[in-house]
Amino acid sequence: MVNFLIFGPPGSGKGTQSVKLAEKFNLAHLSTGDMLRAEIAAGTELGKKMSSIMSKGELVPDEVVIEMIAHKIDGTKDRAGFLFDGFPRTVAQTSALEKMLNERNMKIDSMLVLEVDHDELVKRLIARADLSGRPDDKDPAVIENRIDVYKDKTEPIINYCRERGIYQPVNGMGNIDDIFARLSGYVTKLVN
Ligand code: AP5
Repeated sequence: MVNFLIFGPPGSGKGTQSVKLAEKFNLAHLSTGDMLRAEIAAGTELGKKMSSIMSKGELVPDEVVIEMIAHKIDGTKDRAGFLFDGFPRTVAQTSALEKMLNERNMKIDSMLVLEVDHDELVKRLIARADLSGRPDDKDPAVIENRIDVYKDKTEPIINYCRERGIYQPVNGMGNIDDIFARLSGYVTKLVN
C-alpha cells in the first residue's frame, strides 16, 4: 500500500485531481469534505450539527473526522493505497492518522501540496458557487475565512511532514491536465 495526502488551500484542486489520481492508480479516495456533505444531504444528526460550522468555513472537531476516516480505512479492500483529500487539516489529525496507519502496518508515504495563488483560489471558488450549491462557496467573506483557517490551522502540517521527509510541493497553476501530469509523475515514482 502506498498512501498519499493531497494537500492545499480551498480551491487548489485537491478534489478534482484526487478523482483522476484514484482512478489511474487504483487508490481509495477519502475526502472528509465529501463525507461530511453526504451526512448533511442524508439529514443525519451529525450532518445537522456540522452544517453550520461548515457554512462558516470553520473546521469541524478533530474527533468527528478521525472517526470517519478510521471507519473508511477498515472498510476498504483491494486498493493499491489511500489518497487522503482534505484530511488531515490539523496537526492533531495528522498524528492521529499516523497512529491509525501504523497500527495497520502502513504509513503516510508522501504529501503532495498543490501551490496556487490566492487570487486564483478565489476565482475558482466563486466560479463554482452557482454550480456546487455549497454555502461555503457563496459568500466571498467565507471563502477568505476558509483560506485564513487553512493558513492558521492546516499549513503547520507542512512543516510536520517536511521534518519526516515526505513533503512534495507541486505547481497547482495552469490547466487541469497539466497539473494531473505533474502529480502523476510523483505518484508513479512511489508506486513503482
Ligand atoms: P472540503 O470539501 O475539503 O473543501 P476545501 O478544502 O475548502 O476544498 P474545496 O473542495 O473547496 O477545493 P479543492 O482544493 O478540493 O478544489 P476542487 O478540486 O474542488 O471541506 C469543506 C469543509 O468541510 C471545511 O471548510 C470544513 O468545514 C469541513 N472539513 C472537511 N474536512 C475536514 C477536516 N479534515 N477537519 C475539519 N473540518 C473539515 O476545485 C475547486 C474548483 O476549481 C472546482 O470548481 C474545479 O472544477 C475548479 N478547478 C480545479 N482545478 C482547476 C484548474 N487547474 N483550473 C481551473 N479551475 C480548476
